[in-house]
Amino acid sequence: MAIERTFAIVKPDAVAKNAVGAIIAAIEHAGLRIVGLRYLRMSQAQAEGFYAVHRQRPFFRDLVTFMTSGPAVVMALEGDNAILRWRELMGPTDATKAPAGTIRASFGTNIERNAVHGSDGPDTARFELGWFFAGADLGLP
Ligand code: RTP
Ligand code: MG
Repeated sequence: MAIERTFAIVKPDAVAKNAVGAIIAAIEHAGLRIVGLRYLRMSQAQAEGFYAVHRQRPFFRDLVTFMTSGPAVVMALEGDNAILRWRELMGPTDATKAPAGTIRASFGTNIERNAVHGSDGPDTARFELGWFFAGADLGLP
C-alpha cells in the first residue's frame, strides 16, 4: 500500500444541504486525513479549467453552471490508497444508483447533483490538487 493524496470537493448541492460536517466526519471515520481545506465559490473560469477534460461532453455547460451555483468545499485528502478509497466512499457517479451507505446515496440527487467529487487516478489527483492548492498550502517543499 502506498500513501497517496487525492482531491475532494463537497459540491454546492451538499453544501446547500448542510452536509459538510457529515461528509467530513465520514472521511475522517474512514481513516483518511484532511491535509488541505478551502471554502470557496468557483468562478466560471475555475470550473471550466478544472473540468476541461469534459469540455466536449454534452453535460459540460450544465456541469459548470452547477459547480458555480454556490459555495463548495475543496479538500486534499491523504492516506493509504487514498484515491481509490475516497472513490469507494463516494459511490458511483449516478446518485440514484449508488449503494446505501455511500456518500452519493446519502446526499446526492442524480447523475449531476451527486454531492462530492474525487480524483480518478494519480495524474488527475496531481492536476486537481494543483488547481486549488499551491504546494506550500499542503506543507510541501
Ligand atoms: P467527479 O469527477 O465529480 O468525481 O465524478 P465522476 O468521476 O464520478 O464523474 P465524471 O464522469 O468525471 O463526471 C464529472 C461530473 O459531471 C457531472 N455529470 N453529469 N448529466 C450527465 O450525464 C452527467 N454526467 C456526469 C457529475 O456531476 C459528475 O460528477
Ligand atoms: Mg471524474
